[in-house]
Amino acid sequence: MEGKEQVLSCIQPTGNVHLGRYFGAIQNWVALQEKYDCIYGVVNYHGMTTPFDPQKLRTLTWDVAFRLMACGLDVNNIFIHSLVPEHTELAWILSCMTSYGELTRMTQFKDKSLQISESNKDAFISTGLFTYPVLQAADIIIYHARYVPVGKDQEQHLELTRNIATRFNHVVKKEYFPLPEPLYTEIPKVMSTADPTRKMSASLGEKHNIDVFADPNRIRKQIMSAVTDSGDVSYPDMSPGVENLFSLLKASGYTETYANLMHLYQSGTLGYGKLKEEVANAIIEMTEPFRQKLLILNADKRAVKEQIKQSSAKIRERAQKTLKEVRELSGLI
Ligand code: TRP
Repeated sequence: MEGKEQVLSCIQPTGNVHLGRYFGAIQNWVALQEKYDCIYGVVNYHGMTTPFDPQKLRTLTWDVAFRLMACGLDVNNIFIHSLVPEHTELAWILSCMTSYGELTRMTQFKDKSLQISESNKDAFISTGLFTYPVLQAADIIIYHARYVPVGKDQEQHLELTRNIATRFNHVVKKEYFPLPEPLYTEIPKVMSTADPTRKMSASLGEKHNIDVFADPNRIRKQIMSAVTDSGDVSYPDMSPGVENLFSLLKASGYTETYANLMHLYQSGTLGYGKLKEEVANAIIEMTEPFRQKLLILNADKRAVKEQIKQSSAKIRERAQKTLKEVRELSGLI
């Protein structure tokens, strides 16, 4: 990996791997492996910030790691957060260099805690949810990452990470941590097919997300029942549902079909049944190799878990080196 710049990103083991997550992150992560030294974490410590069930947390963590591999991530680039506990030690040190005020300004915390308390008046809002951006900063700088491929929703967390790294460097009087930069790529907006005004997400419920690893019949059924419009919207306007179907088609790489169908739409002769059928075909074809790969991985789960543990141990060595230096620099005995 000599000479390649460091990229790091992480995914929470909450929920399934759906098309929003695939097009929004994983597809890009796979591509970045060519050009960069990449590290990708399945961050189960972050998965504890909202109420969780231990058995589910364990299962989801392995599930997500397996699915990342099935989508094309090199196992050597994958680690499981809790197998690299140095992240939490660094987070403690960094939390002492992060102000309470900074954390209260995090919009994701404000949104999430509001969402939680609205859904349940006895809601439990953990300190972990509040300090989570500090752990995220540790996740990034522990590997001296240069680039962090994330969505725009993480912009503020990245900015905070840069501030924390700057403060650390100032305290220890050394340019120790490089300042990481976000890596934004053109990411299609993937909306729920059941409600195309909302972002596809696991938390909205089953019908709102299309699982990459679902049975092809189910994928087809979900796409065929996608919300469109009753034909009362026409070019140059487009309803959110139809727009979403077009973005899915484009994102899955079917550019020619996309162009043809768009042409039909513009001339007012596109039937939505046909559009849906083409989208379903495209998605099923694109995801088929992933399902096949998952079957292979699942056939010897123990061996795959062992591989993931080994890659985590290798990655841990790098985190340990950083922590040794950080402790030294910070005056910790
Ligand atoms: N906060 C990110 C999310 O919710 C997940 C995450 C945790 C992350 N640690 C990270 C992303 C480090 C990039 C880098 O999606």
